[in-house]
Amino acid sequence: MDNPVRLKLAVQKSGRLTDQSIDLLGRCGLKFSRGKDQLVGFGENMPLDLLFVRDDDIPDLVEEDVCDLGLVGLNVVEEKRLELAARGHAARFEILRTLDFGRCRLALAVPEEATWWSGPRSLDGRRIATTYPYLLARWLTEHSIQAEIVTLSGAVEIAPRLGRADAICDLVSTGSTLVANRLREVEVVLESHAVIVRTPLSLAAAKADWVERLLMRVDGVQQVRESKYIMLHAPRSALPAIRKLLPGSESPTIIPLEGGTDKVAVHAVCRENVFWETLEALKAAGASALLVLPVEKMLA
Ligand code: PRP
Ligand code: ZN
Repeated sequence: MDNPVRLKLAVQKSGRLTDQSIDLLGRCGLKFSRGKDQLVGFGENMPLDLLFVRDDDIPDLVEEDVCDLGLVGLNVVEEKRLELAARGHAARFEILRTLDFGRCRLALAVPEEATWWSGPRSLDGRRIATTYPYLLARWLTEHSIQAEIVTLSGAVEIAPRLGRADAICDLVSTGSTLVANRLREVEVVLESHAVIVRTPLSLAAAKADWVERLLMRVDGVQQVRESKYIMLHAPRSALPAIRKLLPGSESPTIIPLEGGTDKVAVHAVCRENVFWETLEALKAAGASALLVLPVEKMLA
C-alpha cells in the first residue's frame, strides 16, 4: 500500500464531515472502491487513496507523514497545534484550503437553569468539561479566568448532569445536542469549518502535481456551488445600471440582437447566488427575458 506515486488522503470515517467530504471528492472527479475492511478507498481514476479514520487522528497522520493530505475540521487542527506547542513542538502540517462546509463552533454552554451565569467571569473557580482542553485553556487565559478543565474523551454534554462539571466546552453545529441535554450556549471559543491540511515533507513530482490538480478542482467546485450564469436582454442605455446589479460578476459578454433594435443580450457569470430580489431589480432597471442557469464546472 505504500506506493510512492499514490497520494494518501485521510478523511473522517463517520461523523459530521464524512458525507460532504466524499461528496466533494466525487465532484472533483474521484471514483473509488472501498476495501473489505472499509478503511481504505482505492481511487480508480486518480492515483489517490482515501484512509477512513477518526477525525481526531487526522492531524497526527499528516504530521507523521502517514498520509499526504487530510480533510478535517479546523477545531481538530487547532487543538493539535496547541497541544504540540505545549510539548515544545511546532506543528508540522500546513492548511492548504478552507472548505465551504463543516461549519460549527466550539462553544461554552451551561445548564439552562444555571442562575450563577452572568458572563465569562462567572466561570472563575468552576469546572468545565471538554474534549478540547488546549483551545479551552487558551480562551480561559485570554479572559484571565481561573477554572478547572475536566478533560473527557467523549459524551461531554452529560457531564453537568453527572455532577462532573458545572459547564461544558464542546462543538455546536445545529445546537440540537445542547437542547436535548438542557444546556444553553453562552460563549464562542472558536469558529470552525473543514480544511485540507498537507504533510510538511516535500512530495515527489508526480504526487505534488496531483495535489495541485486536486486543489484546482476543489477551488472550481467551491466557486461553482455559489455561481450562476445569467442571461438577459436590455436596452444599451440601461447597461451601466444593470452591470452594477450583477452580483460578483466580472466583465459580461454583450451581444447585439438581430432586427435593428437598440437592445443587446448580456451574459455573465455571477460568483454569488442570484436571488429573486436581484432579478426584480434588474427588471426594474430595464432588463427583460431574464434567465439564470446553474454552472456545472469552472476552471480559472
Ligand atoms: C459534536 C459534538 C456534539 C455534536 C453537536 O460531535 O461533540 O456531540 O457534534 O452537534 P449538534 O449541535 O448538531 O447537535 P462530532 O460529530 O464532532 O463527533 P466527535 O466529537 O466524536 O468527533
Ligand atoms: Zn472527533
